[in-house]
Amino acid sequence: MKAATPVTSPKEGIIKEAIGLTDVTTLRARARQGIEDGALTAGYKAKVETVITLLNEALATEIVCILRYKHHYFMATGISSLSVKGEFLQHATEEQGHADLLAERIVQLGGKPNLSPEGLLIRSHSEYVEGVSLVEMIKEDLIAERIAIDTYREMVSYVGPDDPTTRKVLEKILAQEEEHAEDLASLLKELGSHDQGRDLGR
Ligand SMILES: [Fe+2]
Ligand SMILES: [Fe+2]
Repeated sequence: MKAATPVTSPKEGIIKEAIGLTDVTTLRARARQGIEDGALTAGYKAKVETVITLLNEALATEIVCILRYKHHYFMATGISSLSVKGEFLQHATEEQGHADLLAERIVQLGGKPNLSPEGLLIRSHSEYVEGVSLVEMIKEDLIAERIAIDTYREMVSYVGPDDPTTRKVLEKILAQEEEHAEDLASLLKELGSHDQGRDLGR
C-alpha cells in the first residue's frame, strides 16, 4: 500500500512545534486510526470515562430538577402563585434542555446516557423536596440551583482545556443555572417573608 505523502513542510513543522500544535501529517494519520470512536480522536486529552461519569451525574441532577419543578408547577396555589407557576414551568423546560445537551455529549464521547429511574436520587447532586408553601418551594428550588451551580463550576475547572466542547456545554448550562438562581432569589424577595404559610391552599 502506498504510504501517505507527508504534507508538512519542514518550516511548518518547526512553526507548529514551537507553538505546541500538531503538524498536518500527524493529524491526518491519527484521524484514520480508531474511526469507530467518532468524535473522540487521539488528541482528546481528558479521561473520557471520568467525564462521562460526571456528565451522567449532572444528567441525573437535571432530571431530578425537572421533576421537582414540575411538581411545584402543578401544586403551587394561591394568588401569589400565578407568576411563580410560569417561572417553575419555564425552569422545568430549560432543565430538560440541559438534560438533552448532556445526553448528546455523553453519546458523542462514546458513552450511554443513564436515564434509568433506578438510583436516580443517588446519582443526582440535588434533592427532590416537594415543599408545602410557595415560599418553601422556591427556597428548595433555589437550594437545588445553588448545588447545580457549584457542581457545574467544579466540572468546568476539572475539564479545563482538555475537552473544550464539554466545557462549552457545561459553561452554557452554568450560565443558565445562575439565571435560574437569580430569578428565584428575586421571587423570594417579591413574596417577602410575610407570605410564608399564606399559600398553603390545601
Ligand atoms: Fe439545569
Ligand atoms: Fe436550573
